[in-house]
Amino acid sequence: MATPSISAREAEVLALLGEHLSNAEIAGRLFISVRTVESHVSSLLRKLQLPDRRALARHAAASARTTGQAGPPPALPAPLTAFVGRTRERAELAAAVRAHRQVTAVGPGGVGKTRLALAVAGDLAGEFPDGVWFADLVPVADPVRVGAAVAAAVGVGEQPARDVDDAVLAALADHDALLVLDNCEHVRDGVAPFLERLLAACPRLRVLATSRARLVVPFERAVPVPPLSRAGGDESDAVALFMDRAAAVGWPPGPGASAGVVAVCERLDGMALAIELAAARWATLGLDGLAAGLGDQLRI
Ligand SMILES: Nc1ncnc2c1ncn2[C@@H]1O[C@H](COP(=O)(O)OP(=O)(O)O)[C@@H](O)[C@H]1O
Ligand SMILES: [Mg+2]
Repeated sequence: MATPSISAREAEVLALLGEHLSNAEIAGRLFISVRTVESHVSSLLRKLQLPDRRALARHAAASARTTGQAGPPPALPAPLTAFVGRTRERAELAAAVRAHRQVTAVGPGGVGKTRLALAVAGDLAGEFPDGVWFADLVPVADPVRVGAAVAAAVGVGEQPARDVDDAVLAALADHDALLVLDNCEHVRDGVAPFLERLLAACPRLRVLATSRARLVVPFERAVPVPPLSRAGGDESDAVALFMDRAAAVGWPPGPGASAGVVAVCERLDGMALAIELAAARWATLGLDGLAAGLGDQLRI
């Protein structure tokens, strides 16, 4: 049977119907509103000419069997560890995305850009009827392949006869959505022209990029991502991250250790990745050992 033109998002909804999820569960999985799920379900019923959602579920299960697909990738990667602090940065970055179509969260490696961008994308997801997409550009070596990475993230297949960038622009043209483009730094030469075309072709699309350096395009709003705050001593974001990760390896520092933890976080300049590495080692090194070893090897 020829498949009627089903959008990437409808295909995701269909696959989840095949797993017998409720509209609310589908909304939660795809970071879209229940009403948006309802509208996708009715358009699927119409396009596939099926009577009800049970028929949609059967259709989805049958096509999953024939294509051998495991279902759509999740819209946002789910972090495996708890998110800590960042109340102010989170609100500021969200406000920037509401106000500007292309925002770049800028900061050094390990400072916490990706985590912050994911938190903000989750916070904003309900405001975008077509939800959020996430594309990680780390595996992209060639700047001309930026569009192809976005295509893969949003579920647009590459076709031999068609330029993949054009296919993405066409697929997202009427989407009211947020695209998170993570790790742009090494392919900025490709990201800049691609985003210029994408934003022009897709008037309701917004892009939240993360990068070690600004993209340096006229339409960019750069928002610096600072290190984790050390304000408030043992109540700070930096200390909270250390405590959480130390507890995760089974060695939460007792109350007597808090001054030492504050000092370690300060030595590490509040860099999130460095704090995680230190917290993972403190059980074996102890706080004194950590402080002594901090000269170089734990620095990023
Ligand atoms: N606010 C946070 N809460 C919890 N973990 C964080 C937070 N910020 C950063 N991390 C963790 O610190 C590490 C580095 O953060 P990441 O976002 O990957 O940095 P960047 O993208 O700037 O290189 C990751 O393991 C991440 O999960
Ligand atoms: Mg990152």
